[in-house]
Amino acid sequence: FSIAIFASGTGSNAQKIIEHFHNHPSIRVALVVSNKATAGVLDKAVAAGIPTLLIEKERFFRGDGFVPELTTHGIDFIVLAGFLWKVPPSLIQAYPSRMINIHPALLPKYGGKGMYGNFVHEAVIAAGEKESGITIHYVDEQYDHGGTIFQATCPVFPEDTPETLANRIHALEHQHFPAVIESVILSKLVKNQPS
Ligand code: GRF
Repeated sequence: FSIAIFASGTGSNAQKIIEHFHNHPSIRVALVVSNKATAGVLDKAVAAGIPTLLIEKERFFRGDGFVPELTTHGIDFIVLAGFLWKVPPSLIQAYPSRMINIHPALLPKYGGKGMYGNFVHEAVIAAGEKESGITIHYVDEQYDHGGTIFQATCPVFPEDTPETLANRIHALEHQHFPAVIESVILSKLVKNQPS
């Protein structure tokens, strides 16, 4: 079972996912895709010996978009880990219930367009929330909207800055995301077994 990770940033989650599935008996990270040539995630993938692809905007949003590339690489499942472009319908239709995202807050609050990176944590702090967390969810055609798979929470302290909260949230992501990916995929593999 082959995973593609899509990421636009430093790729700390991607790194944890790659490490988690290293030597896994039935699941492998087969591709790392980015829309940004300078994204740290690409260096991490290269260091781990995983093929990488850089997406061009026109190609991604046109017609069948990126599906042929993924088919060529035999991709069964897509993980968005800090990927900042909205995924086009062609890709969502090609991977029904086989694409998941992680969001650094407790959806349905603090999601949607513009709610990424430290903007999310600024909004959580400005609203005086006592708790934040992570949401792992299926991807549909709206930002941060598909069915929730998993949430975990952490406290927000009065002295928190977006940076201190981001660090706490990142730790939570690293702790849970790889294992949640594994359990979602394994449940699909079990369902696909001939009876
Ligand atoms: C994570 O906080 C994730 O929730 C968000 O983007 C961030 C990516 O961080 N969608 P990294 O590149 O994995 O360090």
